[in-house]
Amino acid sequence: MELGQRRYPIHIGRGLLDAPESLAALVTGRHALVVTDSNVAPHYLARVQQALAGKTTGTLVLPAGEQEKTLARFGEVMAALAALGASRDATVVALGGGVVGDLAGFAAACWMRGVRLVQLPTTLLAMVDSSVGGKTAVDLVQGKNLVGAFHQPAAVLADVATLDTLPARELRAGLAEVVKYGAIADEAFFGWLEDHAEALLARDPDALAHAIFTSCAHKAGIVARDETEQGERMLLNFGHTFGHAVETEQGYGGLLHGEAVAVGMVLAARLSADLGRAPWSDTARLAALLERFGLPVALPAGLSGESLLGRMKLDKKGVSGRIRLILWAGLGQAEIVTDVPEDDILAILEG
Ligand code: NAD
Ligand code: GLY
Repeated sequence: MELGQRRYPIHIGRGLLDAPESLAALVTGRHALVVTDSNVAPHYLARVQQALAGKTTGTLVLPAGEQEKTLARFGEVMAALAALGASRDATVVALGGGVVGDLAGFAAACWMRGVRLVQLPTTLLAMVDSSVGGKTAVDLVQGKNLVGAFHQPAAVLADVATLDTLPARELRAGLAEVVKYGAIADEAFFGWLEDHAEALLARDPDALAHAIFTSCAHKAGIVARDETEQGERMLLNFGHTFGHAVETEQGYGGLLHGEAVAVGMVLAARLSADLGRAPWSDTARLAALLERFGLPVALPAGLSGESLLGRMKLDKKGVSGRIRLILWAGLGQAEIVTDVPEDDILAILEG
């Protein structure tokens, strides 16, 4: 990942967590706090602790799940860093999915105004999206990721072998973010995903490696050009304004993030077609691929369109109270649109 003069490595491969020397080398100071969750710890924590045996390490195992990405849990990470006596050269090691990565990343951004962060992603979603690019955050009941900071990791180490233990539903949720890159920027990759859907669902190592590598290349390219989301980076939020509203409205205990993004991408594509900006046939292709991945493509029952619209107004991309959406002109051609009438959005939400 290159950001002007700054750069950091993104290592992708099988068995990376089994190389203690390279793991230890990522922690440059004396102190390291490993933050993980209750599902990941039994599988992978011992290996990381062993690799860091020569350091002064602390461990914080949080309960798993989106509902834990809170200011209260953030406070627990701060307390653990204090208990460790972590100084400015400390490293926070985030071992887990996007929830752990975002939360521990935000803690690293804030502890003593910013310490080193190493991302060890263990979900497909975290490998292809959340561990790369430096967005960190926690959720509020009022809205998702509303409190956070840009804080780039010093390194990302994605051990693809950790996906062997990932539940199937979580793998499918990660595939939603993979599809996103094809949808917004790369029609050829979208076609490749159509051709390799079964291989990906069967966790074929070569197919997974290609999907992860291609996704990271897209993400790194976009972030390199627009680190703090002044323009192009907003395209990575295709489907997210709708999806975040659903997650918030469900109290972070309904659809998984990737599932909500899948629904959101289809709604954004439908809205684009309704507005005459994109062909309907591409919406159908997008929905068909997501369905092959076992992902939802319509809003869950029981959600109010008006309430979802209200949630969308608190989206971080909004300007002066106006909703800014990522729509598309068709596969591979996402665009930022600010002037969509609320009635048209509501029609999609109630459709
Ligand atoms: P998650 O972190 O909740 O992980 C999903 C589930 O899988 C959890 O129950 C976890 O305990 C379990 N798990 C993780 N790795 C495992 C493994 N190898 N084996 C067995 N179980 C495992 O969810 P996620 O989908 O990884 O991340 C979603 C979060 O990421 C959301 O909060 C979203 O907002 C955030 N996100 C952030 C960015 C960013 O740029 N920072 C981008 C996309 C998403
Ligand atoms: N996941 C959106 C971004 O990193 O910008």
